[in-house]
Formats: sequence, C-alpha cells, structure tokens
Amino acid sequence: MSSNNQNKIIDPDYTLLISEQQIQQRTAEMAKKITRLYRTRVPILIGVLNGGFIFLADLIRYLDIDCEIDFLRISSYGDEKESSGHIKVLKPLSADIKGRHVIIVEDIVDSGLSIQFLSKMLEAFEPASLRIATFLRKKSRLKTDIQIDFIGFDIEDKYVVGYGLDEEQKKRNLRAVYVVEHK
Ligand code: IMP
Ligand code: MG
Repeated sequence: MSSNNQNKIIDPDYTLLISEQQIQQRTAEMAKKITRLYRTRVPILIGVLNGGFIFLADLIRYLDIDCEIDFLRISSYGDEKESSGHIKVLKPLSADIKGRHVIIVEDIVDSGLSIQFLSKMLEAFEPASLRIATFLRKKSRLKTDIQIDFIGFDIEDKYVVGYGLDEEQKKRNLRAVYVVEHK
C-alpha cells in the first residue's frame, strides 16, 4: 500500500516527513518491545482521543499478547496552538484500571503538559503499573520531565498532520505524516 493515492487531501504545502512504510515498521518494533515486556500480563491500552486512535489500532494489531483497550478524551488546544496545561476530561474512562497494567497511547507529546496531567489523573485510580507510549515527540518543546516509555519518532518543532493528527479536525485519515509548511 502506498500513500500517493491520497492526492486529493494532501495539500500543496504539505511535505512528507514519515512515510507509511516507516510508520508501520516502527510501530511493529514498538509492539515487539511491548509484547516482550508484558508477556505474562494482559495490559490495558488507553487511547487518547481523538489523535491516538489510529496509532492504537495499528499498535495492538502488532502485539502478540492478549490486551484490552479503552479510550478517554481530553480537551485539545481549541483555536490555539499552545497547550495551556488546563485540560478538561471530555470523555472519562469506562474501564476500571485499579490493579491493571496500563499503557497510555498518545499521538504526540509536545509540551508534555497533557500527558503529565493524564498520567497523574490515572495514577489516582491505582493501576498496578502505568507506562506511556507516544507515536511522536517534539523533544525540544518539552516543558516537563515526564518519562515516556515508548516513543515512535522524535521530530523537530514543526506542525504535523496525518496518522491521527489533525489540522482543524481534518487530515487525520492521511496514512503518512506531513509537515504543514505555513504553520
Ligand atoms: P501537549 O500538552 O503540548 O503535549 O499537547 C499535545 C497535544 O497537542 C497532542 O495530543 C495533539 O492533540 C496536539 N498537538 C501538538 N502538536 C501537534 C502537531 O504538530 N499536530 C497536530 N496536533 C498537535
Ligand atoms: Mg492528543
């Protein structure tokens, strides 16, 4: 499968950053590591909506262990491009994670404020363990020292779309990741 049959939704000012093939290869590697670490357990992977749903869907299909999933949704930046650190829970968890081995699955860690908030919130439910997997990380933008356990790709400080990541709620369905040059 190639990405070039999505020409109608790839804007002229998008530059390919990570190809579909690179994404699949890296996701499979991450899943291998998770499979090894959780061999004797049934982790619950918690996708952070909306952005995390595609990465979660691919990641679990490369796992060779049983797992469960759940989702939660937190408020995004709204019209702004900067994280405020004030994050609202728009859709809470359904699963009971007390005593469970939890992996939070994010699309991107930018300032890290969202994931820091989330992990503190989930710790309060007393999971047996809590790890964080993110598809992308903008390392130079981090404002917290939160530990990220599984990282797909470290990227530069550029606005990116595709593979779950949006530009004004659209473009999540692109199979590769693109830099938006005008942002
Ligand atoms: P943080 O709290 O600054 O780490 O914000 C992380 C959230 O901001 C992500 O889950 C995304 O929803 C959004 N975000 C940050 N950078 C980008 C980007 O380059 N493209 C699309 N969404 C982004
Ligand atoms: Mg997100």
